[in-house]
Amino acid sequence: GPTRKMPSSASAVDFFQLFVPDNVLKNMVVQTNMYAKKFQERFGSDGAWTEVTLAEMKAFLGYMISTSISHCESVLSIWSGGFYSNRSLALVMSQARFEKILKYFHVVAFRSSQSTHGLYKVQPFLDSLQHGFDTAFRPSQTQVLHEPLIDEDPVFIATCTERELRKRKKRKFSLWVRQCSSTGFIIQIYVHLKEGGGPDGLDALKNKPQLHGTVARSLCRNAVGKNYIVFTGPSITSLTLFEEFEKQGIYCCGLLSSRKSDCTGLPLSMLTNPAMPPARGQYQIKMKGNMSLICWYNKGHFRFLTNAYSPMQQGVIIKRKSGEVPCPLAVEAFAAHLSYICRYDDKYSKYFISHKPNKTWQQVFWFAISIAINNAYILYKMSDAYHVTRYSRAQFGERLVRELVGLEDTAPAH
Ligand SMILES: *[C@@H]1O[C@H](CO)[C@@H](O)[C@H](O)[C@H]1NC(C)=O
Ligand SMILES: *[C@@H]1O[C@H](CO)[C@@H](O)[C@H](O)[C@H]1NC(C)=O
Ligand SMILES: *[C@@H]1O[C@H](CO)[C@@H](O)[C@H](O)[C@H]1NC(C)=O
Repeated sequence: GPTRKMPSSASAVDFFQLFVPDNVLKNMVVQTNMYAKKFQERFGSDGAWTEVTLAEMKAFLGYMISTSISHCESVLSIWSGGFYSNRSLALVMSQARFEKILKYFHVVAFRSSQSTHGLYKVQPFLDSLQHGFDTAFRPSQTQVLHEPLIDEDPVFIATCTERELRKRKKRKFSLWVRQCSSTGFIIQIYVHLKEGGGPDGLDALKNKPQLHGTVARSLCRNAVGKNYIVFTGPSITSLTLFEEFEKQGIYCCGLLSSRKSDCTGLPLSMLTNPAMPPARGQYQIKMKGNMSLICWYNKGHFRFLTNAYSPMQQGVIIKRKSGEVPCPLAVEAFAAHLSYICRYDDKYSKYFISHKPNKTWQQVFWFAISIAINNAYILYKMSDAYHVTRYSRAQFGERLVRELVGLEDTAPAH
């Protein structure tokens, strides 16, 4: 749960600013102004530009965030006069001013020495966000490492024509998270840049389990020694990784697939299916130290590797049609935690900012902001403020937009 008690009068922006505080926004102001200056030194002066202020930067974020509620792909629709236009928002800042800020928007100073790292234009922001996540929230013991749903098609496609949609480039990165399985709070983010970059570039992650090991190690950097249990999918599950994690006090429970997993060191006898399928709910176990490899049959062979649960402990899977199917506790726990995560995915992936910039660092930035807002809502729901205002996720988002844009006092209405 939350590490500090927020007052019952805390507003949406107060929760958001646990992760994106004023000093971070002020830095965006400085960097944007600096970039505009450099740009003009190079390409000639821009008579329409005046330096951006903190209030304008907040409004700028508010406009972008409004696309997570309207699901409109073009933030400029606010001023369009059409279906997605929003007069009260449009009156706060002119479209021309918004587009100027968008043109020069930067969050990190340019340093040529670091330019080899593809994410250098956003990494310091990601680090500060991570610090905010770490200090504001203590996760439950059980967590999931996975790739969350982030590219939901917008419910309505407003200003994009078919052709524009087809032209839209593929994402050049994948986003992985470590997520608390009892609240849905995203504890840690890892951005993996795809090799080759371009739309035809090879996605190195796809075929190489050892790269998934890198992702998992990075996601668990701050988890060492905390006795956590992490659930993993087949691309991450491996004996080598789990043994390495055990030495660091991180315990695992992962689904294994002979096609997608790195099966190095696992007994072959357990990886091949017997000629005759066993009865439903039957399982075989092989152990080494604390590690057990479970092969469980339920109309198909399912294999799990775990050092977090004793294979002797019984569990059960309850199916609507076929009733109870016996299984080891590890299998029950895996299924339960994965279904929690699917529920959070269903609920929160609808609220990702749908504006899609061309630049990879900007795409990463807006995804990270979206995650910060979902996390802010999760903290809000656990606070006294929720008992007063009881906003749904959509209402919380609208309220945040209005507060950032400056249409509301930040004190609650009553
Ligand atoms: C099993 O795990 C415990 C901690 O849970 C550890 O102390 C012990 O060394 C482990 N045993 C082996 C054989 O790895
Ligand atoms: C993004 O790229 C497309 C095609 O390359 C271009 O037409 C469009 O103007 C770009 N958008 C922005 C905001 O730069
Ligand atoms: C304009 O946007 C704000 C903030 O998202 C929202 O509260 C309001 O209902 C919107 N107005 C219209 C007319 O859509």
